[in-house]
Amino acid sequence: MDGNGRWARRRNLPRTAGHTEGEENLAAVVRLAVKREIGWLTVFGFSTENWVRPRLEVRHILGLHKKLFGRVAELNELNVRVQWIGRPFDSPEARTPGYVQKAIIKAINDTAANTGMVLTVAFDYGSRAEIVHAAEAAVAGGCTRVTVEDLDKGMYLAELPPVDVVVRTSGERRISNFLLWQSAGARVYFTEQTWPDFGAPELDAAIAVARQ
Ligand code: FPP
Repeated sequence: MDGNGRWARRRNLPRTAGHTEGEENLAAVVRLAVKREIGWLTVFGFSTENWVRPRLEVRHILGLHKKLFGRVAELNELNVRVQWIGRPFDSPEARTPGYVQKAIIKAINDTAANTGMVLTVAFDYGSRAEIVHAAEAAVAGGCTRVTVEDLDKGMYLAELPPVDVVVRTSGERRISNFLLWQSAGARVYFTEQTWPDFGAPELDAAIAVARQ
C-alpha cells in the first residue's frame, strides 16, 4: 500500500494524514473486494524494516492497525475472516506491542466463524524471516532433507494459498520483502495511483491481470 506519504505531500498534509486516509481506503477496498467475490486479500501493513521510521509516524501507524483490527462489526457484516502474518509474538525478534497483539487476537477470534473473504494483514512481517522460520521449523521437526512441502507447512499461515496477483501502488516497480515464497509464478499489477486513491478501476484491472 505505497504512496500514503506522497498522497499527503501533494496536499501539504503531514505523512500521518496519508496513513489515516490509507486505512480508510483499505476498509473501502475490502468492501469492494467482497463485492468482486475475491477469496483472499493479503495486505502489507507494516514490515520488519518499517520500525526505523520516525517514532511518531510508527506510533500513528500502530494506532491505525488497532483501528483496523477493531472494525469487527463491519467485517462480520461482510462475512470477512481476519488473519495476521508476522513474526510470532513469542519469538525473540518480534516487535508487535502488546496492545496491537490484543487487537489482532480479538479480531481473529471475533471473525473466526465467517466463511467469506479472508483478509490477512501482514504486520511486523518480512518474507525472508518467514522463510527462515519455516526452515527452522522443518529442522526442529527432524527433517534431514528439507522439501518444498516442508517449507509450505512452516509458513506463518500455512492455509494461505499461492498468490494470483501482486499489486504495487504509486508507481513503485519493484518487488519488496512480501510473500516471496507464496508468489512464485504470480502475476504483477503496477499502478501509478497512490494507495489512498486506489479504487474500483485499479482493483478491476488487477483482477483482469490475475485472470490473464
Ligand atoms: C506506505 O506508504 C504505507 C505504510 C508503510 C504504512 C502502512 C499502511 C497504512 C497505514 C494503510 C493501511 C492501514 C492499515 C492499518 C493496514 P509510504 O509511507 O511508504 O508512502 P510513500 O511511499 O509515499 O512515502
